[in-house]
Amino acid sequence: MDVAKPRGQPDRVLSHEEARAFYDRFGPKQDLQRIYEDPAIEVLLQYAGFETACAVVELGCGTGRLAARLLEELLPEDSKYVGLDISGTMIDLAQGRVAPWADRARVQRTEGSPTLPLSDGAFDRFLSTYVLDLLSEEDIRAALREARRVLAPGGRLCLASLTFGQTLPSKLACRAWTAIHSLSPRLVGGCRPLHLEVFIGSDWQILHREVICTLGICTEVLVARRR
Ligand SMILES: C[S@@+](CC[C@H](N)C(=O)[O-])C[C@H]1O[C@@H](n2cnc3c(N)ncnc32)[C@H](O)[C@@H]1O
Repeated sequence: MDVAKPRGQPDRVLSHEEARAFYDRFGPKQDLQRIYEDPAIEVLLQYAGFETACAVVELGCGTGRLAARLLEELLPEDSKYVGLDISGTMIDLAQGRVAPWADRARVQRTEGSPTLPLSDGAFDRFLSTYVLDLLSEEDIRAALREARRVLAPGGRLCLASLTFGQTLPSKLACRAWTAIHSLSPRLVGGCRPLHLEVFIGSDWQILHREVICTLGICTEVLVARRR
């Protein structure tokens, strides 16, 4: 099954440097995407079990909007949160958002390498929303290997990513999005639809998978347990 690209075409993605430059400029505008992201995030939150989490790591935490919601509403008061992002602008925004919980939440800028500066088995939730869909297939696989490494057995992988259309309007929207991405990934922040499930091997037990389409833009939500 194609995961992201039209048959026979190379998988064009932003380099780490290009992604950093884009999100450094884009900054707070990322939160405008909430129009189509929020309905999918609600589903993710239903199945991720943050109410019982001890330690959460978020890859590509963006402005820290989801982190602040988790810390304010869902996570137990003694749980820890670590957010990672390639963009200095995003890290500054997220830093401001998690500042009220500075004793247990921190954010850190990375160089974009899928190798994460975190200890083995130190977390019980690995969260990433609308990030894997801008990484190369190689980086997606490496990020999932890292998720497995940093999660303790039984820990949950909690993902949301752009995916392919399901109905005629969403299929047309997806085709338009993919065409723009093929022209220049930068025009759509590097993101393109993909099938997350294709990347999930037998070392994960899928607990929930659902596709949510809002305004013609479809998101695959996937929660899996580390075996
Ligand atoms: C589309 S935004 C999503 C942000 C946030 N997760 C959300 O759902 O609103 C993608 C985020 O991933 C970050 N990012 C892109 N490539 C990355 C990489 N290789 N490693 C870490 N973060 C990355 C960007 O800086 C940006 O904050």
